[in-house]
Amino acid sequence: MEGRKVTGWAARDTSAILSPYSFHLRKTGPEDVLFKVLYCGVDHSDLHQLKNEIHFTTYPLVAGHEVVGEVMEVGSEVKKFNIGDIVGVGCIVGSCGECWCCKTNKEQYCSKMVFTYNAINNDGSFTQGGFSSAMVVHQNYVVNIPENLAPEQAAPLLCAGVTAFSPLKQFINSEEVIRAGILGLGGVGHLGVLIAKAMGHHVTVISSSDKKKHEALTDLGADCFLVSSNHDEMEKSLNSLDYILDTIPVSHQLQTYLPLLKVEGKIFIVGAAPEPLQFGASGLILGKKTISGSFIGSIEETQEILDFWVEKGLKTMIEVVKMDYVNKAFERMVKNDVRYRFVLDVAGSDLE
Ligand SMILES: NC(=O)c1ccc[n+]([C@@H]2O[C@H](COP(=O)([O-])OP(=O)(O)OC[C@H]3O[C@@H](n4cnc5c(N)ncnc54)[C@H](OP(=O)(O)O)[C@@H]3O)[C@@H](O)[C@H]2O)c1
Ligand SMILES: [Zn+2]
Ligand SMILES: [Zn+2]
Repeated sequence: MEGRKVTGWAARDTSAILSPYSFHLRKTGPEDVLFKVLYCGVDHSDLHQLKNEIHFTTYPLVAGHEVVGEVMEVGSEVKKFNIGDIVGVGCIVGSCGECWCCKTNKEQYCSKMVFTYNAINNDGSFTQGGFSSAMVVHQNYVVNIPENLAPEQAAPLLCAGVTAFSPLKQFINSEEVIRAGILGLGGVGHLGVLIAKAMGHHVTVISSSDKKKHEALTDLGADCFLVSSNHDEMEKSLNSLDYILDTIPVSHQLQTYLPLLKVEGKIFIVGAAPEPLQFGASGLILGKKTISGSFIGSIEETQEILDFWVEKGLKTMIEVVKMDYVNKAFERMVKNDVRYRFVLDVAGSDLE
């Protein structure tokens, strides 16, 4: 059933150019939360989807999955949220609730998981994301934004932040100093550096150029900075890292980076390169190394990273822009010209 008419910015085809688009939200059901979107982060995954690089995009597509909003209406069975609350929604807005993944707080891996946009809701409606004036989401996929966290600061944590946090959590109580590598210093990468530092790790940024060296070492507090094309620097860092968080969004040679890992080191692939990654088997075997993937984090972990952020007094590095800048924002993201995340001021953009 159709609910409120809203305006978002949608792409109509693989050019991924966004422009205003009106559509109807579903009606607020008993377990739903309707919220006005305040801010929405701009993630490289949005671009992969808008360009149909993952090959299942339905147009018109309203992207945006780092969404912070203010609750306007709640269904009769919603107990967790009240009108006026500041809330967040990340990458997923549904799952089956019954499978092993759902029962063990890993609902992001449920085979019936529903993406925040470009997916079909349980009621048959098409999901559209946070580049829009309002959203309706089932309460189980909504998190509370802590009172002392600015909403625009919170937005990137809802996808990029939890994506870095989820695989790194396993090291939280380590008694030894963990030596971390953060590969690619973009939206996810910069939060990875801040999280790893806050966990007490010794952090090396591995970057494609030296352009971000000064700010990585000063503003983000990284301990070392490696330029991946500098053979001497890379050679000196062989066998030095316990893990690498790989955030590169394009195809790359894993075997360039695997030798940086110590014996039993792990590389966590979170960058969603559309093309296959390459590595040689011997690089893995001789060193008992692990390649693993990781997809965002659970709803529980999403709440955890928000609370962790406040507890550790961390600061997301963002550039806040209005919705009519979104095409330029994507253009600059592709040119690697953002420090380090665009956040759209949706409520301040007068979409309606
Ligand atoms: N697994 C998940 O759940 C999840 C969640 C969020 C995002 N993602 C994916 O993670 C990736 C990163 O997202 P993001 O929003 O952080 O993107 P981003 O802001 O564009 O950052 C990516 C970084 O990778 C490096 N890079 C870019 N192009 C490169 C190239 N051609 N060769 C080598 N390095 C390159 C750059 O860092 P340097 O300048 O330091 O080289 C860049 O800042 C995307 O593929 C996105 O879809 C996955
Ligand atoms: Zn499930
Ligand atoms: Zn994302």
